Amino acid sequence: MAEGGIRRGTAHPVAARVVFNRELPGGYGLLRLQVGRVARRVLPGHFAQVICDDHLTLPRPFSLMDADPVQGTVDIFYRVVGVGTALMASWQGGEEVRVLLPLGHPFSWPEGKVNVLLIAGGAGLAPVHFFARRLVERGHAPVLTWGIETESPLMTIAARMDGFPLNVVFEGGAPVALAALDAVGVSSRLASMEAISGRFHGYVTDLAREYLVQSAAPSRARTVVYACGPVPMLRAVHAVAEQFGLRGQVSFEERMACGFGVCAACVAPMRQGEEGGWTYRKICTEGPVFAIADVAWENV
Ligand SMILES: Cc1cc2nc3c(=O)[nH]c(=O)nc-3n(C[C@H](O)[C@H](O)[C@H](O)COP(=O)(O)OP(=O)(O)OC[C@H]3O[C@@H](n4cnc5c(N)ncnc54)[C@H](O)[C@@H]3O)c2cc1C
Ligand code: FES
Repeated sequence: MAEGGIRRGTAHPVAARVVFNRELPGGYGLLRLQVGRVARRVLPGHFAQVICDDHLTLPRPFSLMDADPVQGTVDIFYRVVGVGTALMASWQGGEEVRVLLPLGHPFSWPEGKVNVLLIAGGAGLAPVHFFARRLVERGHAPVLTWGIETESPLMTIAARMDGFPLNVVFEGGAPVALAALDAVGVSSRLASMEAISGRFHGYVTDLAREYLVQSAAPSRARTVVYACGPVPMLRAVHAVAEQFGLRGQVSFEERMACGFGVCAACVAPMRQGEEGGWTYRKICTEGPVFAIADVAWENV
């Protein structure tokens, strides 16, 4: 098996073997790939470009949900939405495929004695879940908030898939927390727009705000926020961070084409120079993770 990832500007695919490709409800799948030693370089927030088929001009970008440096594997949690992901869903254990990884800038490790507040929306949970577990290994005790609707296929997965990383803990009949995170000491809480006893009723960013309001002032001031989810949620994350004067990072899972900085199909507006100045930066090579303070939110 070929080993090593890509250096910036030299996009060499890595040969990978499918360990398993588990079909999940709602058109989702969990793919584990044996990628060899390059798995050691994978950090939360990195993404992979998956070559779904030689006949498709473009590879498809996916956040990495986990990496096992000892086994040399990486996990991708994907939803079938089009031709590329439909091809991925047909892959069988043992099959040889090609991916490019690790790509992009991962989340930065928080420095010093800080509180970490993680905010995830829907499938944006994948990189945040990975980050939460690695933060615990580094001695942090992050708090994770996840926005998910009961009618979402993700909730079916979370409620029924015992042993799956998204599996939820029930309290009084309502799913309230994430089991895999509970097991390693991460406090997690779910939010949805439906009023369900035991679950936070509202946007996940309202839950994050409530958590901050209830935190003691010194602890609140030491909080760093990290988020991944749809753009409207990321805008609301920015509003929360601004309200409490907090630093943090967001990961954009935007539309991509080439995936290595050539086509400019993936840009996001970032602050630059004088007051009010901004420019576009490429999510594939300069992101997908950006500092909240660097994003020109009025233009997102
Ligand atoms: C950094 C990043 C991380 C992502 N992580 C995940 C993940 O963990 N799980 C997951 O299910 N999906 C993720 N996505 C979205 C995923 O890339 C698309 O669902 C996938 O490319 C669709 O491919 P397709 O051929 O099935 O769909 P089609 O619509 O047939 O694709 C046509 C073209 O549009 C591009 N495209 C379509 N939708 C998206 C999209 N939402 N984002 C980016 N490009 C898109 C495809 O790459 C392809 O070039 C991520 C996207 C980005 C940019
Ligand atoms: S996807 Fe082509 S420059 Fe980012």
